[in-house]
Amino acid sequence: MDKSPRESLTLAPSGNVVHVVQLTDTHLCRARGGKLLGMDTDHSLQAVIDQALRERPVIDLVLGTGDLADGGAREAYQRLQGYFAQVSADHFWLPGNHDDRQAMVSEAGSPLRLRPELQIGRWQILMLDSQVPGEVGGELGAVELEALDDALARAAAANLYTLVCLHHQPVVVGCEWLDEQMVADAEAFFAVLDRHDGVRGVLWGHVHQEIDRDRKGVRLMASPSTCVQFAPGSAGFKADDKPPGYRWLALHADGRIETGVSRVTDVAFTVDLDSGGYL
Ligand SMILES: [Fe+2]
Repeated sequence: MDKSPRESLTLAPSGNVVHVVQLTDTHLCRARGGKLLGMDTDHSLQAVIDQALRERPVIDLVLGTGDLADGGAREAYQRLQGYFAQVSADHFWLPGNHDDRQAMVSEAGSPLRLRPELQIGRWQILMLDSQVPGEVGGELGAVELEALDDALARAAAANLYTLVCLHHQPVVVGCEWLDEQMVADAEAFFAVLDRHDGVRGVLWGHVHQEIDRDRKGVRLMASPSTCVQFAPGSAGFKADDKPPGYRWLALHADGRIETGVSRVTDVAFTVDLDSGGYL
């Protein structure tokens, strides 16, 4: 997958509010039932989807914000299609550091599924690519930042609000080991956002924990993985015993974002809390 050009797609919302579910860091292994730190990532993803289907009567979009496969296997993306298709809504993907772009392209079914520019109701949703092949840390790069600037100018011309999605965190989250992996050109990223008034939210994965902050009126959000969680505030790698979950967002026509995180509490999961690492 090249970082340009971006495909653009206009979708019809079910109503005035755009209902989004973010499923991130699914870490599906090559074979069904494969485990990450002792957790069966197929089992946990299914539990999270079951919960989202129970809790969310309307879902317009499902956003998969990277690390969708643990090792980039084509078989993992094939199964991912099946899981996401359980939700009767359009679903879109962007790559994380664990993903393989070529395998994603092969299995996505449509080029529109990968890192598209979406327009739905009064909202533009941008799926950016912060993956640096072979690296754990993220960077957007000049081409992606220029495309972001252009897209935000189009949103302003069309009087749209924007939600920007990517895999890596563009801000320090408070875990030293993860903060070494944050978007390397985050300063340039925010300089682009600051040039446009319509940006209302930035949404990412990678950190396997919930974050909800404000920066100059822009909501900054990170979300639980659908599998293993990472402990907030840890200097070195540390898994957390919090359950898997997802984030829901209600994008209102006046630019407001209502959002929250839901975790699966009625299913037992196994996680190896003593593991010394994860890459
Ligand atoms: Fe991840």
